[in-house]
Amino acid sequence: MSVSKKQIYQQCHEQILTLVEGESDEIARMASVVGVLHHALPHFFWTGFYRRSEGGLVIGPYQGSVGCLRIKMGKGVCGTAAETEVTQVVEDVSAFPGHIACDENSRSEIVVPVFKDGVLIAVFDVDSTEIGSFDETDQECLESLLKEVF
Ligand code: SME
Repeated sequence: MSVSKKQIYQQCHEQILTLVEGESDEIARMASVVGVLHHALPHFFWTGFYRRSEGGLVIGPYQGSVGCLRIKMGKGVCGTAAETEVTQVVEDVSAFPGHIACDENSRSEIVVPVFKDGVLIAVFDVDSTEIGSFDETDQECLESLLKEVF
């Protein structure tokens, strides 16, 4: 029987919590989230964080092709997630007004806001090369993981 996407998320969740246990550095924690998920989930083509910085968002850590370095609040899918503080699940990026195409191979995307002590510190962005790759399972699993890690 093949392993479901939810089961992969559950295994990653445990692995990440073990990896970051006792580590207070936020970037080390983010790098662990990216490093585990990017290689475990086949639909993760670009996986990374945009951190809150100087009134906007700045890239890193990430894995995948070269991403745009800075994104303004409210711009693109990441800036929208950061401004609204609501997860964005985009079935087809070409239909999202203002989508920022860092890599033209990206076809669908999920962006989850990341909070620490109730304050937005980053967004977690994943791109796929297929349309409609992300669903409620991705949203629920990522939101619950990020709540626990930060
Ligand atoms: N597509 C994103 C920009 C970041 S890249 O996908 C890595 C957006 O519209 O915010």
